Amino acid sequence: MACPMCGALLLLCLVLILTPLQCGCTGGGFSVELIHRDSARSPFHDPSLTPHARVLAAVRRSYAGSGSPDPDGAVSEVVSSSFEYFMHVNIGTPRTRMLALVDSSSDLVWLRCTNGSASPAPAPPAAAGGRSNVFDLSSSSTYGRVGCQSDSCRSVPGTSCDATSFCQYSYSYLDGSSSSGLVATETFTFDDAPGGCTGCRERPQLQVPRVTFGCATTVHFAGNGIVGLADAESSLINQIGAATSLGRRFSYCLAPFFSDVSSALNFGAHAAVTEPGAVTTPMVQHSTVGAYYTVEIVALRVGNTVIKLPNRSPVIVDSGTVLTYLDKELLEPIVEALSRSIKLPRKQSPKPELFSLCYEAGGLEVLEKVFPDVTLELGVGALVTLKAENVFVDLLLRTVCLAMAPATNERPVAAIGNIMQQNMHVGYDLDKRTITFAPADCAKSYPSPPAFV
Ligand SMILES: *[C@@H]1O[C@H](CO)[C@@H](O)[C@H](O)[C@H]1NC(C)=O
Repeated sequence: MACPMCGALLLLCLVLILTPLQCGCTGGGFSVELIHRDSARSPFHDPSLTPHARVLAAVRRSYAGSGSPDPDGAVSEVVSSSFEYFMHVNIGTPRTRMLALVDSSSDLVWLRCTNGSASPAPAPPAAAGGRSNVFDLSSSSTYGRVGCQSDSCRSVPGTSCDATSFCQYSYSYLDGSSSSGLVATETFTFDDAPGGCTGCRERPQLQVPRVTFGCATTVHFAGNGIVGLADAESSLINQIGAATSLGRRFSYCLAPFFSDVSSALNFGAHAAVTEPGAVTTPMVQHSTVGAYYTVEIVALRVGNTVIKLPNRSPVIVDSGTVLTYLDKELLEPIVEALSRSIKLPRKQSPKPELFSLCYEAGGLEVLEKVFPDVTLELGVGALVTLKAENVFVDLLLRTVCLAMAPATNERPVAAIGNIMQQNMHVGYDLDKRTITFAPADCAKSYPSPPAFV
């Protein structure tokens, strides 16, 4: 065997056997590249946008699509307010490489599909240009049909039987997007980060056979698919957990999102958050926040001021939400405490309903120098230290604003957004039912990738 050190990691081994060189496999984890939708490595990259304009566009996207369930109950799932990160997936045999949005609150993987000449290919999103692939099931030898009475079919919410007793699904999203088609099984292959396996000539890969996914033939959506990582039976994280020895855990490390540096999405041992300063808080069940990962917020400390909520309050942790949204009861005293503590000239807010506190500063580095000790206290005393870049955002030239907004009627879910999670290694362990946060330099979390392929 070409890879004797892999031991029990049978699936990793099966793939590594195919690589001609001896591989030093170190541990059972892998990492994929997480690409911000506005970065230069994204098909949605708009070179005409300045970093400030990117931030404003992201905030607008995140604010526009609220994460509340559809009132008429027609929606099969609650989805995250916006999609901010992509990853590559390889589907089928031979493989088709596709770029899909990553969503921690979606319960299914779905990808655009076509069936040879029997069905016309659904048009890929215009913004993706020529770099976008659609999966042709007729050219794959590992495509599997799923009967509508099967467990796989039942594992996906909102499925039904088509005319020939195969399993079909139909999802519609709050912003009017939709995806429908057949539930099927396929082999998925994930590229590990370059350099993850010493001595390998090619990148190591993880192959997972018979992944249940949505083969989408009718799509109204600005992307080629979604990789769902929710705590649900049909999500990718549960399927990886069931099919491999990697466990049901993932983590990410988000580089500042207006930079062009890639972030990392980790599975298995790579998802263990062990950096110094790591703190762990339990996930909680909360009925009104659907499939989101939810924790409890207890207090926020600014210097010596402790701002406590009267009750423990649920807050979702979401990489697809940009700002942090908090109850007014908590937000107003936070604004007060920060404005008492930060001695910089105030500036008028460009959008007062979202940004209640702005300062004149030539960037976050300037603010960091006068920034008080700010700590977020989550359930069981988990104290997450926040830096200026987690609390403020560089919004306009010489204007930094508080990246926290009130949870309002349109946006009823309190959320820890991706600005607050920047430069933190955030790990989700679905077996231990915990989320762990640690400070990290996320620009170094994913090895510098080759040019766009
Ligand atoms: C794909 O098209 C072929 C040829 O028309 C047909 O026999 C097959 O049932 C189709 N497969 C699916 C999954 O729709």
